[in-house]
Amino acid sequence: MIMGRRLVMLMFMALYADSYSHFNKLSEDTHTRLKRNLWSQRNLSSIPLGLDEGLIKLDLSNNLIKNFTTINLPFLERLDVSYNHLSFIHTGAFKNLVQLHDLNLASNSLNNNIISNSQAFKDLHVLRSLDISKNNLDEEAVKQYLSSASSLDCLTATGNVVSKLTTQSFANTKNLRVINLENNLISKIEEGTFNPLKKLAKLNLARNNLAVICDFKLSQVTYLNLSRNSIEFFITHETEEVYNLEVLDLSYNSLLYFPILPKHNHLKYLHLQNNRLGALGIVNSVAEANHLYKDVTGSNHSRTENEKDSVYSDWQIMPLVHLDLSSNHFRSFPLTMFRDLQSLETLNIGNNCLQNISNSNALSEDSRTDIHNCLLPSLLHINLKDNNIEYLSSNLSTTFPKIETMVLKGNRVRPCSGQSFSISDLTTDVQCISFSNISTLKHLDLQENGIKTLLHGVFANSPLVSLNLAGNKQLTIAKNALKDVQNTLQFLSIGQNNVTDSQFGLACMRELRILNVSDNNLKNLPSTTACSPLLELDVRNNSLTTLKNVTMSHLSIIYISGNTFNCCQATWLQSLKQENVTIPDLDRTECFHQTEFITLSALENSNIMCFDKVTRGYALLYIIILCCVFIFVLIATFGYTLSRTSCHFVDQYSIFSASSISLTNLVRD
Ligand SMILES: *[C@@H]1O[C@H](CO)[C@@H](O)[C@H](O)[C@H]1NC(C)=O
Ligand SMILES: *[C@@H]1O[C@H](CO)[C@@H](O)[C@H](O)[C@H]1NC(C)=O
Ligand SMILES: *[C@@H]1O[C@H](CO)[C@@H](O)[C@H](O)[C@H]1NC(C)=O
Ligand SMILES: *[C@@H]1O[C@H](CO)[C@@H](O)[C@H](O)[C@H]1NC(C)=O
Ligand SMILES: *[C@@H]1O[C@H](CO)[C@@H](O)[C@H](O)[C@H]1NC(C)=O
Ligand SMILES: *[C@@H]1O[C@H](CO)[C@@H](O)[C@H](O)[C@H]1NC(C)=O
Ligand SMILES: *[C@@H]1O[C@H](CO)[C@@H](O)[C@H](O)[C@H]1NC(C)=O
Ligand SMILES: *[C@@H]1O[C@H](CO)[C@@H](O)[C@H](O)[C@H]1NC(C)=O
Ligand SMILES: *[C@@H]1O[C@H](CO)[C@@H](O)[C@H](O)[C@H]1NC(C)=O
Ligand SMILES: *[C@@H]1O[C@H](CO)[C@@H](O)[C@H](O)[C@H]1NC(C)=O
Ligand SMILES: *[C@@H]1O[C@H](CO)[C@@H](O)[C@H](O)[C@H]1NC(C)=O
Ligand SMILES: *[C@@H]1O[C@H](CO)[C@@H](O)[C@H](O)[C@H]1NC(C)=O
Repeated sequence: MIMGRRLVMLMFMALYADSYSHFNKLSEDTHTRLKRNLWSQRNLSSIPLGLDEGLIKLDLSNNLIKNFTTINLPFLERLDVSYNHLSFIHTGAFKNLVQLHDLNLASNSLNNNIISNSQAFKDLHVLRSLDISKNNLDEEAVKQYLSSASSLDCLTATGNVVSKLTTQSFANTKNLRVINLENNLISKIEEGTFNPLKKLAKLNLARNNLAVICDFKLSQVTYLNLSRNSIEFFITHETEEVYNLEVLDLSYNSLLYFPILPKHNHLKYLHLQNNRLGALGIVNSVAEANHLYKDVTGSNHSRTENEKDSVYSDWQIMPLVHLDLSSNHFRSFPLTMFRDLQSLETLNIGNNCLQNISNSNALSEDSRTDIHNCLLPSLLHINLKDNNIEYLSSNLSTTFPKIETMVLKGNRVRPCSGQSFSISDLTTDVQCISFSNISTLKHLDLQENGIKTLLHGVFANSPLVSLNLAGNKQLTIAKNALKDVQNTLQFLSIGQNNVTDSQFGLACMRELRILNVSDNNLKNLPSTTACSPLLELDVRNNSLTTLKNVTMSHLSIIYISGNTFNCCQATWLQSLKQENVTIPDLDRTECFHQTEFITLSALENSNIMCFDKVTRGYALLYIIILCCVFIFVLIATFGYTLSRTSCHFVDQYSIFSASSISLTNLVRD
């Protein structure tokens, strides 16, 4: 009885405690919600009641709110109602939000009730930032919403259906500094549209339908993004006005000509990747650009009066630092354009059809004259990947006196041996590029060039820090070929070369931190693994049987799958684990034992028998003794049996072994 009562009481207490804590949790939840203002993603269909009047920031995003009613939050500065179903903003809804300066209404249905909704904006006197992206708004709707937002500094209206901009579009928002109209349908911009916006600094018109820029006049803008339109040309009329332009993105368009830029600008970043530049050939395109300029403007550019000059002569004084020309149609290096880019530090001209890079003062496309003069004196990084380059200037350190990084992946480059100079002689078959004596060069990427050999002295006096030689099938690295960089090289990749041990002539690399020899035919680790302070090692897909000799004092990560490790020589696995070395592909790594593959991670739990030389000797002895005992027992048994039964019985056992038969025969005799 007593036991039963106690049980009931316990049950009651448990129940009570449970409901109590439940209640507690709820109120606590609401409390923190109110305090910490966590109202987003709550399926709210209206603005919650009882909001703390002191709120400075309110996030109601990702709910189901349709109507925006009056709220009384006099200190609110930021309000996010994005991703709701807002289609009705009550007149006066914002009248108490006297401090609101950041309003996010993205992804709603504000294309409804535009006239009445826009009345509410009249109360937002200090609004600086407004986001009305993804509301299905056309130009009229945007104009209406902006009609009384005169304090606006930053407008974001991406993903709408604006198809043209007129002088009325921003007539009432003269303070705009940033306009983002990305991903609309804009195909027309009326002249003078941006004239009233004296403070405009950033304009993003990417992903629209603009086809031409006939007269670029926005001298106040520092950042202009016109990426992913279908622009065929970009023209600035000749003027002495100084433009603030620093970043111009014209990537992913249909440009056939280099943009004709303002004479005086501050352009540092010019993005021209993924166009059709170079398709007409450099010479033709410059001539045609001159004609185009004349056609469009109805006058000659003063620079074109001299026959040699062009609309691009102003590039001489351009402070360009970064130029991206990748994925265009260049067949030769556009030297005319580059000759004077004194500040250019990064040039990407990858993924074109470049063949030979050499000087051409006569502008002829296939001139094989060398570049003798210093070209691009500030260039630090050049990306020439995926072209068809065989021949590069004979003296890279003259052409690019500060070059640090050269990416030549996917070309047909042959590095010269240390002794030879670059050869550009038609009479010899050997075309090679000298990578020696380039004292500034640090990073060299020569992947996938079909390089067959690296000879002695190939990088003499070039203090390389990283070298990528992956994907050069059957590459042979001569003994000492890398000796010149053994004290500087920190990263080396010789992956996917299908080489064997004998093709590797790696000296001891004293600074090597990352080594990648994956996808080869190595039976032993390159000797340098025993003396380099390696941090990362990739030996996947080789023919290694053990990793005994890796120095682990610095190693933090190693990739090992795809080898033929011997399960019985896997003590190195313990060492790797003890040193806390990460093996990301341990689960995919197998070792070989007799006839079966065992995953290394399962090795610890499997009871495979491994015999080394000494124990193998003992084992043999053990087996012999066992056999002797067996035979002895057999003999004894037969002897005993025979003494009691007839001879034909013995024959049934004669299958055992020759010795037992002969022995039993003896016994029978
Ligand atoms: C909101 O509604 C959806 C669909 O009815 C539901 O899956 C989700 O759990 C709800 N979220 C909250 C926070 O109530
Ligand atoms: C939203 O506002 C409209 C217009 O005032 C009104 O007709 C509708 O009933 C309101 N809906 C809700 C859910 O308050
Ligand atoms: C221009 O806009 C495109 C499209 O959004 C973007 O990918 C690119 O990074 C922008 N360019 C710059 C220089 O910001
Ligand atoms: C433009 O230059 C060409 C060649 O120099 C000349 O023949 C022509 O008259 C010039 N036209 C104008 C409008 O100046
Ligand atoms: C580039 O150089 C190679 C070797 O010198 C030559 O065979 C080829 O014709 C050259 N191509 C061009 C376009 O100059
Ligand atoms: C290459 O240029 C450097 C620097 O201008 C000069 O010292 C060197 O002699 C030149 N080498 C050749 C082979 O022309
Ligand atoms: C590199 O420079 C050394 C002397 O500094 C010179 O003997 C050698 O010829 C040069 N090699 C090349 C390929 O320019
Ligand atoms: C090693 O090189 C191969 C071939 O270039 C590459 O696929 C692999 O990702 C590299 N390994 C690491 C760890 O970066
Ligand atoms: C790798 O080299 C071996 C000979 O060393 C050759 O039989 C094999 O076909 C090569 N594999 C590839 C993918 O080139
Ligand atoms: C190793 O070989 C496998 C199978 O051929 C391949 O799928 C994998 O990408 C290779 N791993 C590396 C790092 O090359
Ligand atoms: C491992 O290193 C020892 C001495 O450091 C050397 O004798 C041995 O040949 C090396 N083994 C392998 C497989 O490289
Ligand atoms: C490896 O990690 C364990 C646990 O984090 C630590 O106790 C041990 O000292 C580490 N070993 C080494 C060699 O760093």
